[in-house]
Amino acid sequence: MHKNRFSRIGFILAAAGSAVGLGNIWKFPYITGENGGGIFVLVYLATVFFIGMSIFIAEVLLGSLTNKNAVTTIETLSPPQKKYWKYTGFTFLTGIFILTFYPVVIGWIFNYMVVSVSSLPSNFKESENLFMSFLKNDILSQIFYYTLACVLIAYTISKGVKKGIEKMNNILMPSLIFILTFLLIYSIQLDGFYKAVEFMFYPNFEKFHSSSIIVAVGHAFFTLSIGMATILTYAASLDKNVDIVRASITVVIMDTLIAIVAGLIIFSIVFTAAQEPGKGAGLVFITLPAIFNEMGTIGIYLALLFFIALAFAAITSAISILEPTVMYLVERKNMSRKNATYSVALLAYVLGLLALLSNTESFSTALTFGSKNLFDWFDFISSAILMPIGGILIALFVGYVLDKEVSRKALIPFMGETYYKIWLFTMKIVAPIAIFVLMLNEIGIIKF
Ligand code: PFF
Ligand code: NA
Repeated sequence: MHKNRFSRIGFILAAAGSAVGLGNIWKFPYITGENGGGIFVLVYLATVFFIGMSIFIAEVLLGSLTNKNAVTTIETLSPPQKKYWKYTGFTFLTGIFILTFYPVVIGWIFNYMVVSVSSLPSNFKESENLFMSFLKNDILSQIFYYTLACVLIAYTISKGVKKGIEKMNNILMPSLIFILTFLLIYSIQLDGFYKAVEFMFYPNFEKFHSSSIIVAVGHAFFTLSIGMATILTYAASLDKNVDIVRASITVVIMDTLIAIVAGLIIFSIVFTAAQEPGKGAGLVFITLPAIFNEMGTIGIYLALLFFIALAFAAITSAISILEPTVMYLVERKNMSRKNATYSVALLAYVLGLLALLSNTESFSTALTFGSKNLFDWFDFISSAILMPIGGILIALFVGYVLDKEVSRKALIPFMGETYYKIWLFTMKIVAPIAIFVLMLNEIGIIKF
C-alpha cells in the first residue's frame, strides 16, 4: 500500500465526509420545507441518482487513473492536440469561493454549541433576536469562532492525506453517524415523527413551483461536492484495485440517507412543537434552539449533540474543499505542503472575513453589491455558476475527449456493458444539457 494514499474505507469515509455537510443537515431540510416537501424530495432524488451519481463516478474515474492533482490528471488524459483541456482542472479554484462562506457558518455552529449549554433562547422571538444580534452586531465573537474553524481546517490539510484527512474523517464520520442514529431513534418516538414522514414523502403540489426543480437540481450538485475537482482529487489519493463504482454508489447513498435522516429529525422536532417547517435558513439557528429550550434538560443534550453533528459534517466538507488547490501547488509549483496550505488558507481567510463582515450592521452597506452582500455573492457565484460549469466540463471531457478505451477498461469490470452505455450517454448528452438549462435559469437568463 502506498504510504500516502487512502485505504478503501478511508476513501469512502473521506469522500462521504466531503459530500455530507451543511448541504445535508442545514440546507436540505429548509429548502425541502420551502418547496413543499414530497415532490421536491422526489426531484432531488431523481437528479442525484441519474445525473449526480454519473458525474461523481466520472470524477472518481479520472482521479484514480492518474493519482495526480486535477490539472495534471486532465492534461495527462488529453490527446496531444487537446492539452488545453487541462484548464478544466482549475475548477478547483471554485473552492476558494466556497471556503469563504462555509467556515463562517462553521463559526456560527461553534457559537451554537456554546449557546446549547449556556443559554438556549426561551421563545421564538428571543431566538430570532439572539441569532440576528450575533450575525449583525457581535463581530468579535463571530471572528473568533470563524478563525477557530479556519485554523482547524488548515491544520488538518497541512498534515496530509493519511495523517490529516483520513485520520480526521475516521474519527468524525463514524461519530456523526452515531449521533444522527441516536437523534433519529429519539425522534421516531416523538408525536411529530409521522407528520415528518408524511411531509417529506407525500407530494404537496401547492408549494411546488417549476423553480423548485431548479433548486433541487442545483442542490444535487452541491450536496455531492461535484463540479470542482474535489472528488477527483480525493480519488487521486486512492489505492489501486478499488471498485470505484461501488465506492461511488456507497458515498452517494450515504449522502442521500443522511440528508433524509437529518430532515426527519428536524421536522419531527418542529412538528412536535407545532411549528412551521418552511421557515427558511433560520430553521436550524432560530426555530430549533427555541424548541430545544422548551424540552427542558433533555433539550440541552439534544441541542449540543445536534450542533456537534453539524460541526463534524461541515468540517470534513471544508477540508475537502481546500485539498485540491493544495495538491496542485505541491505537485506543480513545488511548494511544501505546509506553505501551500497556509497560503491558500490565508487567502480564503481574508476573503471569508469580508464575507463575514458583509452580514454585519456596520459593514453591510460597504460590502453589498447590487442585490446581494458578499456572503451571498460568494455562495451564488460558486453554486449557481462555477460548480455547474465544472460539472459540464467534466461530463464533456469524459464524454468526448477521454479515450473511450480508457474509460471502458476502467469501468466495465465494475458496471457491465449496459450501465457503461447509459453512463456514457449521460456524460455526452443528458448531464451537459440539464446543467446548462439549470444554470441559465439560476442566473436569470431564462425563467421557468
Ligand atoms: N457537499 C458539501 C455539502 O453538502 O455541504 C458541500 C461541498 C463540499 C461542496 C465540497 C463542494 C465541495 F467541493
Ligand atoms: Na452533501
